[in-house]
Amino acid sequence: MHDALRGGVSNSGGDQIAQNNDVRQAWYDQRRDLERGGHNATPKGLVHRRRWRRLEPALKVFERLLQLSGLHARGRANALDIALKTITVRLANLPAAFDGYRILQISDPHLDLLPDLADRMTALLHGVSVDLLLLTGDYRDQHDDPPEPGLALLQPIVAAVDAADGCFALLGNHDPAASVAILEDMGLQVLLNQTVSIERRHDSLHLTGLDDVHSFYTEAAHGALRNGPTGCRIAAVHSAEVADMAAAADIDLYLCGHTHGGQIRLPWGGPLISRLRRCRSYSHGLWRHGDMIGYTSNGAGVASIPVRYNCPPEVALIVLRRPA
Ligand SMILES: [Fe+2]
Repeated sequence: MHDALRGGVSNSGGDQIAQNNDVRQAWYDQRRDLERGGHNATPKGLVHRRRWRRLEPALKVFERLLQLSGLHARGRANALDIALKTITVRLANLPAAFDGYRILQISDPHLDLLPDLADRMTALLHGVSVDLLLLTGDYRDQHDDPPEPGLALLQPIVAAVDAADGCFALLGNHDPAASVAILEDMGLQVLLNQTVSIERRHDSLHLTGLDDVHSFYTEAAHGALRNGPTGCRIAAVHSAEVADMAAAADIDLYLCGHTHGGQIRLPWGGPLISRLRRCRSYSHGLWRHGDMIGYTSNGAGVASIPVRYNCPPEVALIVLRRPA
């Protein structure tokens, strides 16, 4: 990891480390309680958790209809046709030392549902050199299965990328607390409502990463947004659902995924399903909330059914630029 990086989990000093360990243990205990409970914790309060397994028969019928119609093979090929998508973002507050800074964002690979995607992504990203690698959650698809198989498929993808300032990850709504240790073993720093600062010469860029806010929202997420340092700030969140809070906290750039851009779109329209409880207009692409710019990635993978239509998968290369 780059020497200039310092963050909530990497501060030196015995007292600080003990305090950080206490904070992490408290996070872990609370997260496990939420995972075992029957409700999703959202910024709007507790919402009864749907058991997606109950929808499996209907999904299987839908998938069978796709197979009979000949559309399934095309949808699967679409889902495997992943590409690198470059997004240039101009930030008024960006320090000169970070002009041209490159962030590679991988979101929502759900690798256990479409394992062949892992090889495609590894080949796509082999030798790609960036300043920072950012993984914005949902590494596996099946909520009730252990996270290890999906995360094992992620490891070569992470290893393919050369990221000078380090590799960071968030948890999505499909990622249990048990994923953290596995991600850390891959060399990723998992941001759990924490901020790290990247320094170049005398300038800083601050990255605040939240735990998932779709199903596991806590006040600590809002606190991490509110209590960050001054200067140019990026929020990395699995979903766009706290975009308004981030903008109120003077975040400059908000990077997220979760929606898969809809995954299945009609040729002439946007996503059929947003999967968002709040900030629903931020379901795909570039957007703006007040002075804050946001980007919702189409994501790399698929959920529920391994097909995509009119909504290509992507790995996003975010290039930060100062105003023209
Ligand atoms: Fe996802």
